[in-house]
Amino acid sequence: MPVTSANACAKIILLGEHSVVYGEPALAIPFSGLRVRCVIEPWIKGPPGTLQITAPELNLDQSLQDLPEDNFIRQAIYLVLGELRISRTPTCKMAIYSEIPISAGLGASAAIAVAAMRALSSFLGHPLLNEKLNRLAFQTEKLMHGNPSGIDNTVIVYEQPLLFRKAQPIEFIHPNSELPFLIADSGIKKATAETVAYLAQQREHDPERVDAAIHKIGKIVLEGKRAFETGDLTSLGAAMNANQALLADLNLSCPELDGLISAALQAGALGAKLTGGGKGGNMLALVTPDTQEAVRIALQTTGAVAVHQTSLKRRVSHD
Ligand code: PMV
Repeated sequence: MPVTSANACAKIILLGEHSVVYGEPALAIPFSGLRVRCVIEPWIKGPPGTLQITAPELNLDQSLQDLPEDNFIRQAIYLVLGELRISRTPTCKMAIYSEIPISAGLGASAAIAVAAMRALSSFLGHPLLNEKLNRLAFQTEKLMHGNPSGIDNTVIVYEQPLLFRKAQPIEFIHPNSELPFLIADSGIKKATAETVAYLAQQREHDPERVDAAIHKIGKIVLEGKRAFETGDLTSLGAAMNANQALLADLNLSCPELDGLISAALQAGALGAKLTGGGKGGNMLALVTPDTQEAVRIALQTTGAVAVHQTSLKRRVSHD
């Protein structure tokens, strides 16, 4: 078996995180500039049946057998072996390198699982098709997040902008204008499982208030989708701001994210909001070529630990 490598991108939720868990639509885009890479090589002199995993960013250097049962990489590997009906673990070394910050709202866990499953299935001579890969990646997301919507694994597997709604066919969407974004990291790590559980708790105490907010976010997502498809950047920015206001009302933002968001808006961003689980992690700002530099400086001086740039190119649908 030759050395095999595969990779997967990060993701950005443009509109609709959290409400998507409750069946509302959400809009997500790939963040192709930030990636996870997985390399697998045969381990000729290794102990037979030993799959050794190294992942420097996760401080991991262990054999598959020694990983705790609830480890998501372990689960990703066994899911592939099960899917391919392979009972004997291949003797090999798997190295995972991630540029995506962990617990920061950019889909790191889903991207790691997708890259590992892509690489392993190719290494074994049976590369998984996206549909199957997506189904398996969703299983690992369940392990990580408890009650995931499935949006992270879906946008990462297909690496295309999409409107996602639980249990509905994926709707791929195309921007009718170039969309430049800045993504800034608050530096605060927050596990998605925690914020999802936090909202579920709030919903138990006050279902009417929380459901009303969730439903409003769903409507904003559909308005945002129209703006995305028509290239109406002003309306898309307004949708992002309206979405952020509702997320903040649900106490899913935090002072550091609020600071970055208002700095971006003051510097000329058309819209700004948290992205992903919230209460930390990253925020997202929609900019223009004219405002991009000013917004970047504002984010840096307000304390962002990293600022990334990504741009969705205008793409005309042919379907
Ligand atoms: O924080 P991330 O990158 O895992 O994004 C989570 C998105 C949520 O909507 C909060 C949860 C979900 O499963 O959709």
